Amino acid sequence: MSVLITNGRIVTASDDFVGDIYIEGEKITAIGKHLNVMADETIDATGQLIMPGGIDPHVHLDMPFMGTFSSDSYETGTRAALFGGTTTVIDFILQKQGHSLQAALDEWNGRATGNAVGDYSFHMAVTDFNDKTRPEIKTMVEQHGITSFKTFMAYKGALMIDDRQMTALMQEVRRHGGLVTVHATNGDMIDYLIARHREEGKLSPRYHYLSQPEVTEAEATGRFAAISHYTGCPGYVVHLTCEGALNAVRNATTRNQHVWVETCIQYLLLDASRYGEDFEGAKWVMSPPLREKKDQATLWAGINQGVVNVVATDHCPFRWEQKLLGKDDFSKIPNGHPAIEHRMELLYSEGVRKGRIGLNKYVELTSTNPAKIFGLFPRKGTLSPGSDADIILLDPNRQHTLTATTHHMNVDYSAYEGWQLTGKIQTVLLRGKVAIRDGECKIARGYGQFIRRGRHTGLS
Ligand code: URP
Ligand code: ZN
Ligand code: ZN
Repeated sequence: MSVLITNGRIVTASDDFVGDIYIEGEKITAIGKHLNVMADETIDATGQLIMPGGIDPHVHLDMPFMGTFSSDSYETGTRAALFGGTTTVIDFILQKQGHSLQAALDEWNGRATGNAVGDYSFHMAVTDFNDKTRPEIKTMVEQHGITSFKTFMAYKGALMIDDRQMTALMQEVRRHGGLVTVHATNGDMIDYLIARHREEGKLSPRYHYLSQPEVTEAEATGRFAAISHYTGCPGYVVHLTCEGALNAVRNATTRNQHVWVETCIQYLLLDASRYGEDFEGAKWVMSPPLREKKDQATLWAGINQGVVNVVATDHCPFRWEQKLLGKDDFSKIPNGHPAIEHRMELLYSEGVRKGRIGLNKYVELTSTNPAKIFGLFPRKGTLSPGSDADIILLDPNRQHTLTATTHHMNVDYSAYEGWQLTGKIQTVLLRGKVAIRDGECKIARGYGQFIRRGRHTGLS
């Protein structure tokens, strides 16, 4: 099967021109102006932006967490992602403390295999690094193509590891050419602040926010950067939210160190005024919490300075009945918010259309940089001969409204209810197949493939 996409504005992280793309099977085979080829199907992209499919490197699908499971399965989550122009997601496997990494991989494969609509890969979260798990790092990298390892400096008593384990893990991961990613907040400080608020009877969602002040993130980010520097292991900070933490990364650059930084769409667009005294704020109970307007300004600046490299979602949806588990105690509200479907359109409308970022930067943040950092490039993350034909067509002028009544995520509210956006994903191709067209998904559960990843090679 061959497809010819004609006369669209082709944008990658480095190019921007009007032209055609020719696809044979799953791959792009030619790009240029006025391609003189016959195809089984021709898609006229006049007036549309043609860009690489989005890669969201931070999602939690069907994840056991805080006494429940995140509400999107591999099927509903990857399908919703496709509707929003994200063709590949990287999900997090969680090692159970006292158990092997292999056992966790088997468990996640059990939920994912045969169920995904879009492509997916895995990070491995190491929650218990010891002499038994040490040799598994090599196995994950070499046998399974899982080349990034997630750590939590918070969620004390559940997922958190201490600095001793972090140092040992980073030394081992470095030996095998992997990358360590981190949820960088100070778990002991947060644990204390949660306990104190509960003792004082301060139980509304607002106290979730007040239990994780900026200093908890700034301190842990600096500490992680120091361990990364000492061990020589590449480090990536997930869901960075605030000025203090970004300054800790900037400090690391003064010793010529790269610490890769991801922020998430919610931290760019939403702020802590969402946390009132009523329970409504539970919709935005996530860790780290939403921050201040000054932090949003810092993150946009960080993007244009090249210090923030990726915009992800940390998609971790819970239905309202699940959020109600914490109606009398903020510490029991499942942490996370739904966004897998909206990242690309929100960032286009609020970022590109409002003049905060350029189009090449948009592609870099949503696709090319995650592909490079996580060993998917150039198979994914760009439009070039030999790459997977993961392609989005975006109508830059079409207006639409986000609402829970029309979104495709398995969650009964929207964190962006009523937001009016300009720019709509119209058509999505995944490995050469039309996946989304005319508001419908054209591919079935099971089309999505597990993608083995290569080693981290930096961003050049
Ligand atoms: O609130 C969040 N972020 N939930 C998902 C788990 C994590 O910390 O990424
Ligand atoms: Zn986290
Ligand atoms: Zn997360």
